[in-house]
Amino acid sequence: MTQPQREEVIRCEGIWKIFGDKSRQAMDAIRSEGLSKKDIREKFDCVVGVQDASFSVGRGEIFCIMGLSGSGKSTLIRHINRLIEPTAGSIIIEGQNVNAMNARDLRALRAERIGMVFQSMALMPHRTVRENVGFSLEVRGVAEANAAKIAAAIDAVDLTGWDKKYPDELSGGMQQRVGLARAIAADPSILLMDEPFSALDPLIRKQLQGTFMQLSAELHKTTVFITHDLDEAIRIGDRIAIMKDGVLVQIGTPEQIVTEPADDYVAEFVAGISKLDLVTAARIMQPLAQYQAQHGAQDMAHWPVARPEDKLNALVDLAVGADSPIRIEAEGRVVGIVTRRALLRGIQGRDEAMTAQEAA
Ligand SMILES: Nc1ncnc2c1ncn2[C@@H]1O[C@H](COP(=O)(O)OP(=O)(O)O)[C@@H](O)[C@H]1O
Ligand SMILES: [Mg+2]
Repeated sequence: MTQPQREEVIRCEGIWKIFGDKSRQAMDAIRSEGLSKKDIREKFDCVVGVQDASFSVGRGEIFCIMGLSGSGKSTLIRHINRLIEPTAGSIIIEGQNVNAMNARDLRALRAERIGMVFQSMALMPHRTVRENVGFSLEVRGVAEANAAKIAAAIDAVDLTGWDKKYPDELSGGMQQRVGLARAIAADPSILLMDEPFSALDPLIRKQLQGTFMQLSAELHKTTVFITHDLDEAIRIGDRIAIMKDGVLVQIGTPEQIVTEPADDYVAEFVAGISKLDLVTAARIMQPLAQYQAQHGAQDMAHWPVARPEDKLNALVDLAVGADSPIRIEAEGRVVGIVTRRALLRGIQGRDEAMTAQEAA
């Protein structure tokens, strides 16, 4: 698989947000004296909401920010469309500095290029589904809201046939679907989603995640998606940023986060997560030369074959049907071997070095 050139859509660089009247002085004191959050609270009566956060999101990517309540997720995401001004740092969207935009450009950015979905969408009660969805087009100044665009958005969230209903005739999950349709109707290139499914029951949440992922794949939106649910982040995210006390403590793919947690905090978070759909053969295989050094040259012709990017789940299926190890091939060449032992250790989440050692 060749990766297409990554096009950066959102870039946040060194974002600090300090709440309070003396935020400037507090920032200076942090810079010059390295004061802690506690010091900042005591000396300046300020709260550090976000601390030196940097990340970038590529075109079409779903970037999840995961953290407990109060960790600064909402504060951080609200910088992207400048609902919040940073105390320090910059936000660049498609090459433009958001904090240097004048009022007109900022309005256009929010109305045309960014769609936002919140936990509670506050639909307008006296408007039908159709009229609520059309609202994002009205805001954009399209005098006669485009009927085809509205219908397409309603269809994309699986609400076809519900367009003449009022919000109070809909379940919570359906209302969130309307909110999502409203956000995409104006066809923004960026979606900002702040815990959009968090208030829903688990089953409904899962359905909406499915709808969103399908929609995201079709529409190729660039999305920043906030959640306090690691399972949701892993299911939805191309990459995940783990946030703790205002700090982004780790950014990585779901596989990296789960298999290489940066610290004890992340490790504790990922401890209960199943590795089956995350970890790849590449991570648990022994290089061919190493395997042969240990076991001698062997006839592998009848061993099952997998690719480096195949997940543990697929390897388990192969292992069920054969007693031999699995050979891992890329471009027609054997690149590594997955033993049954390595597979079982991989499922347990035991670390790679340990797995290789034990296999010896
Ligand atoms: N306007 C504000 N004034 C003072 N403190 C705030 C303000 N907004 C948020 N905070 C504080 O910033 C921290 C992060 O809040 P928030 O971004 O809402 O977290 P999350 O979305 O992860 O639950 C919290 O300690 C919160 O109390
Ligand atoms: Mg929040």
